[in-house]
Amino acid sequence: MKTALITGGAQRIGAQITQTLHENNYNVIIHYRHSEQEALALAQQLNNKRSNSATTLQAELSNLDAVKTLANAIDSLDILVNNASVFYPTPINEASQNSWNQIMATNLIAPFFLSQTLAPTLLKNNGCIINIVDVHAERPLKNHSIYNISKAGLAMMTKTLAKELAPNIRVCGVSPGSIIWPENEAKLTEDQKNKMLSKIALERQGDAGDIANTVLFLANSPYITGQIINVDGGRTLNQ
Ligand SMILES: NC(=O)c1ccc[n+]([C@@H]2O[C@H](COP(=O)([O-])OP(=O)(O)OC[C@H]3O[C@@H](n4cnc5c(N)ncnc54)[C@H](OP(=O)(O)O)[C@@H]3O)[C@@H](O)[C@H]2O)c1
Repeated sequence: MKTALITGGAQRIGAQITQTLHENNYNVIIHYRHSEQEALALAQQLNNKRSNSATTLQAELSNLDAVKTLANAIDSLDILVNNASVFYPTPINEASQNSWNQIMATNLIAPFFLSQTLAPTLLKNNGCIINIVDVHAERPLKNHSIYNISKAGLAMMTKTLAKELAPNIRVCGVSPGSIIWPENEAKLTEDQKNKMLSKIALERQGDAGDIANTVLFLANSPYITGQIINVDGGRTLNQ
């Protein structure tokens, strides 16, 4: 039985990746930060389907010590899915060092040091790392410079680690387009949503299953490394 760690795996896209990998015979470690109830409920639901197949681990990924503690709590791993991320606008005239530190730490520094700390066990298992990037890693989203820079870094991390960790560990990425509308401070108006939808060639949002299925495809593709697949309904055709 193979084991996958999904960061931010209790909610939204992360929860779907967790469920899809589990349905395909992976044991899952569901990482969460604040979503304890959702993580425990999801683990319970998966353990009801197959006993001892899901566990949870809490960690604040903007804290490097917590990142290392999380990684060191894991004995054996086949897939690391770096999914957790923060997303909110940082217009250049308002961007603060706090936002820079929080977004970079969560979206870029944590995936790097999780990969480093978990590399020895991934190497033993011929495992892989799958980074959830964003189409905005290449084509910037206005007023989100820090987020764009963090995801551009994650895209380069995918390629540079694919080179360095080959031939025993593969490193790939999935770049979602518009999948689930952002919440809280990043919430969009109906006008903004319609404008975004009008740019998608397939004329609709994707769903979390589109991302999870691509993660599964990459997990099952032993001759693919260093590649990042856009799952965006053709949105980048119109950008
Ligand atoms: N939604 C989209 O349409 C879309 C589009 C493009 C790219 N993406 C990418 O796809 C991935 C999933 O997207 P999503 O919208 O499902 O993500 P999300 O809901 O914004 O965040 C996923 C999880 O990340 C965790 N997280 C955030 N900051 C954290 C921190 N400092 N430490 C630990 N965990 C932290 C949260 O866990 P807790 O809830 O436990 O606190 C959260 O549930 C992300 O990498 C995102 O950038 C999504």
